[in-house]
Amino acid sequence: MKRKKLVAGNWKMNLEIAEAIKLATGVKDARANFKCDVALIPSFVYIAEVKHIIYATGIHLGAQDVSTHENGAYTGEVSATQLKSAGVEYIIIGHSERREHFGENHGVLKQKMEIALKHGLKPIFCCGEPLQVREEGKHKEYVQKQLEESLFNLSAKDFANITIAYEPIWAIGTGLTASAEQAQEMHAFIRGLLVPKHPIALQTRIIYGGSCNAANAKELFACADVDGGLVGGASLKSKDFLAIIEAAG
Ligand code: PGA
Repeated sequence: MKRKKLVAGNWKMNLEIAEAIKLATGVKDARANFKCDVALIPSFVYIAEVKHIIYATGIHLGAQDVSTHENGAYTGEVSATQLKSAGVEYIIIGHSERREHFGENHGVLKQKMEIALKHGLKPIFCCGEPLQVREEGKHKEYVQKQLEESLFNLSAKDFANITIAYEPIWAIGTGLTASAEQAQEMHAFIRGLLVPKHPIALQTRIIYGGSCNAANAKELFACADVDGGLVGGASLKSKDFLAIIEAAG
C-alpha cells in the first residue's frame, strides 16, 4: 500500500490571532486542490479558532506539545484528553526545540508518546542530529538512540498511528536543507530500524523537516522514503505553505 504524504505546518510560537485566522482561512480555501494530508499545528491558544475554521474540511489539526500528566494541578500544562476533546488529532513530540530549551529527555518523550497514544492522538515524533554529530559521522547512531529510547517499547498497533519526522537540527530554521540524498539515506535507515520490529512500520510515515520550502520540497518529496514534510518558517505564509502542499501532490 502506498503511503499518503503528510504536510504539516508547525507554526511554533508565531502569529497573533488575526494572522492565525487569516493563515488557516487561506489554507482552507485552497483545500480542493490537496492530494496529500495537510495538518495545521498552531499554538494551544489558537486551537479552538483554527478548529472552527477547518471544521469538516478534511484538514487536520495538531498541537505542539502534550503534558505527561493525565489531569489535575499542573498549572500551565495541557493534557492529551483536553487536546483530544478540542478536536486535535496530531501531536508533535520530541521537537529539538523542546529537547534543547525545555530539557525534554528520552524518558519524558517516552511518557508523552504513551499518553498521547493512550488517548487516541497521533504523535509526530521528531528525531535528528546536531551539526557536530553529523560532522563526526555519528548521525545514524544518534538517531537510532533517540528512537530506541522513546519508541522501541511501542506495540505494532501504535506504529500504525505514529509519524516520524526526521529533522536534522542543523537544518531547522537555518536555511540549510538536507540534500535529497541525505534525507533519503536517513529515512531509509529509520525505516530499516523499525520494520524488523514491526512490519507495519512499512506504512509508518517518515516526514522531513528542516528549512523545507517551496523550492526544495519537490525534490525531497520525490525520495522513496520521504513521506511529506514538517514545515516551520515556510508554513507561516499561505502562499509558501500551499506551494509545498502542491509539491507533495
Ligand atoms: P523550519 O522548521 O521549517 O523553519 O526549518 C521545521 C521544524 O522545526 O519543524
